[in-house]
Amino acid sequence: MSDWGTRVLALEPAFRRAPSAHNTQPWTLRAEADAGAEGDALVLGWDPTRELHVGDPTRRDLWLSLGAFAESVVIAAASDEVGVGVEWDVSTRRSIAGRLVEQPLLTRHFTSEDLAERHSARGPYAAPWATIADVDAMAAAAGLAGTGASLTVVPGAVVDDLLPVADRWSYEPPALVDELRHWLRLDHGDPRYREDGLSDVALALSPAQAGALRVALSPRVWPLLRRAGGPSVLGAASKIDGRGTVVAFHAPVELAARPEDVADLGRALLRVWLAAGARGLRTHPVSVLVDAPATAGPFAVAVDRAAGQEPGSSRVLSVFRIGRPVDEPITSARRTVPVG
Ligand SMILES: Cc1cc2nc3c(=O)[nH]c(=O)nc-3n(C[C@H](O)[C@H](O)[C@H](O)COP(=O)(O)O)c2cc1C
Repeated sequence: MSDWGTRVLALEPAFRRAPSAHNTQPWTLRAEADAGAEGDALVLGWDPTRELHVGDPTRRDLWLSLGAFAESVVIAAASDEVGVGVEWDVSTRRSIAGRLVEQPLLTRHFTSEDLAERHSARGPYAAPWATIADVDAMAAAAGLAGTGASLTVVPGAVVDDLLPVADRWSYEPPALVDELRHWLRLDHGDPRYREDGLSDVALALSPAQAGALRVALSPRVWPLLRRAGGPSVLGAASKIDGRGTVVAFHAPVELAARPEDVADLGRALLRVWLAAGARGLRTHPVSVLVDAPATAGPFAVAVDRAAGQEPGSSRVLSVFRIGRPVDEPITSARRTVPVG
């Protein structure tokens, strides 16, 4: 492998901090076998066993997560004076997203320290909540103007109406609960607790709440609880008092249609979250609003209206709370990025 490839791969401890839905860390990296005269490249792929086949049937979150990962490599490399470019070319048959290539170093906006400092914060946020000016400044710092994507603050009433419906749905389909259970890490003795998935501490659960969730969602208890109103109880339990400001990340439908488009917008989404961190704000994605069949449509209409656009103009790719957490979040688990 060239010096470039070796230097990039040595930065793995920094770029493994990329965020991914359910913390599945689906990415893989390997040196391109036939790099050819144009030089070196790393192939960015994913592990299909780490896909959320039930919860993410359109692969929207997979493309966003791979984009966030690619951006993490670009940022980590730039921190070390190494230039990395991203060429998307998705093959779902081969589980390949594209190539990372050597390129001259461009301007650096974020650093490896920013990657290490970013954490999702799922607990309550303190007043005063982030303002529209904060959100506009984040969009500018993330360079959104050049991507076609926008940030729009969602009216609180829309979130308060739709989130309980979406949260309840997230505990209803048995296959969705099975998939969640697979990625929950509630047992501190499980070696995977330190590698991937959603731990009790990352979910801001108290030991009592974690214990109750573990029993409730167990394969023996859940089928009974489900029929006895379990989804409503768990949906209501995820209500947050210090909701903070809720922001939609969206793009014109024609710019967010192909997997390559969405992956590239995943790069921008990570920059938005890092820009929030630079302003002392943390983020908490609440994708369920765009996943639940009953809320996805009304939510998209509300976002277009809030953005002053015709309903149907944009595709909402992500929605997240932002604010200053009452309790600082922990550093979530990571495994080593599979290389080679
Ligand atoms: C595309 C995408 C979608 C996500 N959706 C959710 C979500 O709906 N709810 C949630 O609590 N976290 C969500 N997350 C946050 C991940 O669970 C989080 O990034 C991962 O657990 C790693 O934790 P960290 O962000 O603190 O490093 C999402 C992250 C990504 C990249």
